[in-house]
Amino acid sequence: MSSVIRIDHVAIVVDDIDSALDFWRDALGLEVTHVEDVPEQQSVVAFLLTGESEVELVKPTADESGVYRYLHKRGPGLHHICFQVDNIEVALAKMRKHGVRLINPEPVIGTGGKRIAFIHPESTHGVLIELYELTYQEPEIRLARARELADRVRAQGQVVAANVLEFLRGLRDTASEEIFDDS
Ligand code: CO
Repeated sequence: MSSVIRIDHVAIVVDDIDSALDFWRDALGLEVTHVEDVPEQQSVVAFLLTGESEVELVKPTADESGVYRYLHKRGPGLHHICFQVDNIEVALAKMRKHGVRLINPEPVIGTGGKRIAFIHPESTHGVLIELYELTYQEPEIRLARARELADRVRAQGQVVAANVLEFLRGLRDTASEEIFDDS
């Protein structure tokens, strides 16, 4: 028997992570837990904490990615819901028994080092579903990816983009307060 433990995250496709954070982080007040470049999915993701679950903002970084096509066709919005299960192999076997169309017939390593598998919306009444099983290797994989990203940023001698964007947002907010302050 396999069972669903909780909703791990709800993913939303956006065309601009920074302006999405204007709502999700600044207006709604969710805390950003991590931001990750996921080259194998050609996207950048930001995770925001909400109790025991998270909101995942996904921005495609290449024209040929599935997420890009989704954004282009349907616009920004809900992309998938991820359920944490206690045993992903058992869950997938059960799906197969029920004739469910699986995008990943076998689990793959996804964002954050998570062991996951996607289920086709055709079998779920229109919602892309992700299954996720917590494994002991996950923190290790996540750490390795964070190091790899840090090395890449260092190698390119880039300024940390987030700080620049914060700075620009500060400037913009100050400017718009002056323009729209009618008191
Ligand atoms: Co996801």
